Amino acid sequence: MTSDAEAYLKDFHQRRVGTTRRAFATYAARSAQAEYLSSYHALAERVPNDAMPRTIVDLACGDGPLLEILNDRGNSATKLIGIDISNGELAAARAVLSPNVRLINERAQALSLETGSADYVLSHMALMLMDDIEQVMGEIHRVLRKGGKFVAIVGRAFLLGEVGEVFLNVFRPIGKAHLAQIRFGDSRTRSEDGWRELLQHGFSDITFEDIDVDWLPTPEQLWQSMLETYDTDRMPEAGREQFKRELLTAVTPMQREDGKLKTGWALRLVHASAE
Ligand SMILES: C[S@@+](CC[C@H](N)C(=O)[O-])C[C@H]1O[C@@H](n2cnc3c(N)ncnc32)[C@H](O)[C@@H]1O
Repeated sequence: MTSDAEAYLKDFHQRRVGTTRRAFATYAARSAQAEYLSSYHALAERVPNDAMPRTIVDLACGDGPLLEILNDRGNSATKLIGIDISNGELAAARAVLSPNVRLINERAQALSLETGSADYVLSHMALMLMDDIEQVMGEIHRVLRKGGKFVAIVGRAFLLGEVGEVFLNVFRPIGKAHLAQIRFGDSRTRSEDGWRELLQHGFSDITFEDIDVDWLPTPEQLWQSMLETYDTDRMPEAGREQFKRELLTAVTPMQREDGKLKTGWALRLVHASAE
């Protein structure tokens, strides 16, 4: 049975196709170890860029930014497969991706891919939203060949720095008053210890990388981006208006001389090998 969370995600992504790409595709990302053109590139770089035959699955691919990066490498022996439950996102992906990229509309909890058929299962900003995460991890393990790699980017926190703190102070009481409770995902996807637990059976070589995405929005750009988040989208009009007013009032004095706010997105890369 489809949960409230999954039904909402389908509806949101039908109305707001490409929202995740808009938040992440054009912003540089960095960690203590490396710098990346974007957080999608941080995943792509985990896959060797060579002529070896490989099957790569992008789980919850959205409108396909990661598949596009991998396909643009031009390695014709690489087989790319994107999976998602959103018709709208998959249609947008189909419109930009080469016909060689296979796109499948199905749930990560019940994949039709053959056992042991994938060398890599990648996923960008999706696993922390999913119901039945143990079943999803079981499916990832099943489709990976022995020694195949699981590499995912999930949220680590929300907005970085002082802007993030101010945001939470404004958001919490308004969210509490105005938001219907929907439980998105499993809390274990929000911590390293949680991931170690989820990966304890059938995976080894578990590593993490904290990745920060640079973002310097104006207060208005910050607000426009908040409109594309699940929480703000679900607020009734009155709550959204109050949120806008209070958020803009709180962050406007934090602008730098160029009118921008220094913040970003705090992400976590999780890597493991299938046993
Ligand atoms: C935040 S978006 C990320 C999209 C894409 N990976 C990106 O980063 O641009 C989350 C995606 O997960 C998909 N999704 C959510 N639950 C899913 C599930 N159980 N199985 C497959 N896809 C799912 C949504 O339809 C949506 O496209």
